[in-house]
Amino acid sequence: METILITGGTGYIGSHAAVCFLEAGYQIVLLDNLSNSHAAVLQRIATLTGQSPPFYRGNIADAPLLDEIFNHHKITGIAHFAGLKAVAESVQQPLRYYQNNVAGSATLCAAMQKHGCKKLIFSSSATVYGAPGAVAYTEDMPLAPVNPYGRTKRMVEDILRDLCAADSDWRVALLRYFNPVGAHPSGLIGEAPQAVPNNLMPYIAAVAVGTLPVLHIFGNDYPTADGTGVRDYIHVQDLVAGHLAAYAALDKHPGCTAYNLGTGKGASVLEVVAAFVKAAHREIPYQFQPRRPGDLAEYYAAVDFTREKLGWQAQFDLQKMVEDHWNWQKNNPKGYL
Ligand SMILES: NC(=O)c1ccc[n+]([C@@H]2O[C@H](COP(=O)([O-])OP(=O)(O)OC[C@H]3O[C@@H](n4cnc5c(N)ncnc54)[C@H](O)[C@@H]3O)[C@@H](O)[C@H]2O)c1
Repeated sequence: METILITGGTGYIGSHAAVCFLEAGYQIVLLDNLSNSHAAVLQRIATLTGQSPPFYRGNIADAPLLDEIFNHHKITGIAHFAGLKAVAESVQQPLRYYQNNVAGSATLCAAMQKHGCKKLIFSSSATVYGAPGAVAYTEDMPLAPVNPYGRTKRMVEDILRDLCAADSDWRVALLRYFNPVGAHPSGLIGEAPQAVPNNLMPYIAAVAVGTLPVLHIFGNDYPTADGTGVRDYIHVQDLVAGHLAAYAALDKHPGCTAYNLGTGKGASVLEVVAAFVKAAHREIPYQFQPRRPGDLAEYYAAVDFTREKLGWQAQFDLQKMVEDHWNWQKNNPKGYL
């Protein structure tokens, strides 16, 4: 029986992964400092799975706490979600991001090495590619992130690649997410931003429930079908199923491998808004604003490599993503509060 330590396990994606790994028969232990999540999610995980996995409130940079966790549980692998994720904030507070995401991950890896645990799947991001000029991003493209957040992801990827090069016992999957959205179909867990949402879907959802008055759409003159930006949205349930496949594949694939987790298809901002209007049966007022510096017109994941190597591909379409997101939001307009 494998026991997986899920860092960031009370966060948006980590909580969905917790349910997914428990349902697949893994034992799990959760670690989170609750800097961007609520302990209330633990009860929801218990309701969904009938299990209450051990939870440690603490920091991935806390080496004595990590020793305690490794000493109390036979951790066989790590699903490493813990991290700060707001791009704009990372530009304003770069040291906080490097300390939390990079130094924290290095401390976690040192604890793993010390305790002989060398299997890890890591939440990386499509931001590691930067602005490569192509529209379909392949895993072998050069990495040139354009903001501190993206650079923290590339640095952690570098640390993990170096660890695998130095010691052939390490097995690592670098999972480069495109745009995770949606929620568990039960509506019991979902994304609960603590401040004004940074991402499109939670922003639209907040406008739909009336917490925010209007959606600002940045740019309607891009060279795309309707002029708005195109991104590859992926249902969080598909995303965590990809983690399950990646974790299981670690036994077959030694070393460090990067996988895109996306659908391979793009949707424009206006398409997302239209899907939301259909799901929620209410209007989403929006205003066009000038383009934001650094935003790209269009990109999505090339998914062939992930499909071949992991036998996984996304199942859910945009309408299902939006319906599940709305189901969560309307049942929990204030998140877990
Ligand atoms: N959501 C996205 O759009 C997206 C896209 C690409 C990559 N990612 C990455 O996926 C991971 C999970 O993202 P999410 O959307 O679930 O974010 P989230 O903020 O909901 O979850 C991250 C969790 O990590 C915790 N955390 C942060 N720093 C910590 C630390 N030092 N020690 C312990 N816990 C800590 C937070 O409290 C939070 O619960 C992050 O690493 C993020 O960068 C997210």
